Amino acid sequence: MKVLIATEKPFAAVAVEGIKKEIEAAGYELAMLEKYTEKAQLLEAVADVDAVIIRSDKIDAEVLDAAKQLKIVVRAGAGYDNVDLEAATAHGVVVMNTPGQNANAVAELVFGLLVFAVRGFYNGKAGTELMGKKFGILAFGNVGRNVARIAKGFGMDVYAYDAFCPADAIEAAGVHAANSQDELFEACDIVSLHIPATPETKQSINKALVGKMKKGAVLVNTARKEVIDESGLLELMSERTDLRYVTDIKPDADAEFAKMEGRYFSTPKKMGAQTAEANVNAGIAAAKQIVGFFKDGCTKYQVKKEAE
Ligand code: 3PG
Repeated sequence: MKVLIATEKPFAAVAVEGIKKEIEAAGYELAMLEKYTEKAQLLEAVADVDAVIIRSDKIDAEVLDAAKQLKIVVRAGAGYDNVDLEAATAHGVVVMNTPGQNANAVAELVFGLLVFAVRGFYNGKAGTELMGKKFGILAFGNVGRNVARIAKGFGMDVYAYDAFCPADAIEAAGVHAANSQDELFEACDIVSLHIPATPETKQSINKALVGKMKKGAVLVNTARKEVIDESGLLELMSERTDLRYVTDIKPDADAEFAKMEGRYFSTPKKMGAQTAEANVNAGIAAAKQIVGFFKDGCTKYQVKKEAE
């Protein structure tokens, strides 16, 4: 069996070592393709592999066509919008993710971005504190729950809304359950996005919704750029000069947003899951899931195409 790590944005070395150990202990061979710049490199690297571990790397029909022996793709991370699930099914390739493994890393970055924003991007002037502020979490999954835990440590008043998580479960975690997405945006000083990019969520964070936020509000995005209606948000931010947007995913309209001086920041490259711990957790989980799949037929973390 040959397993490929294909990561345009590489794992920490310690994570690669851990993955190698798991793969070699199972008697398999590990191949590496890191920091590739051309799709052709990926097409060549997948040609003779049985399994591939990826991050935000795109697996589409062309890659699947080139991977004649491929049986399984594991996305070491949570979001799998980078994998064409329909094409994978058509090619008989199983797709898995490693939910929760990098959630704390992403959650910690939310507060890195947030303190930076409310302190005026460290411009020397008096900013504000997080304590006592109403903080809204959109989607209460693994990342959202970690964000709630940390927000409580800051002394924030924490709210959440999740279309798929009952209010009781949110309240049981010691968080106020908002009745709707609109209510969450209306009520909170800060909203942090933790929704996946799906046909329903794409461009759903739009002018009307963000426009409901209070004066001086902050929107934090460590989820996906696709969930933002960029032109709507740009329009809103030019009308409402009190609003701030901080993101871990550079928007397509980065240059336009950058004109909103003192109200916008984007990390140069997605940094949410870029910690040694998250890389180790997600990478080793991916390796174990591959071994479990080949040795025991285990498909526990298989993801399927949602009905559109
Ligand atoms: C995820 O979906 O797990 C995160 O967005 C992390 O993505 P990355 O592996 O590309 O850093």
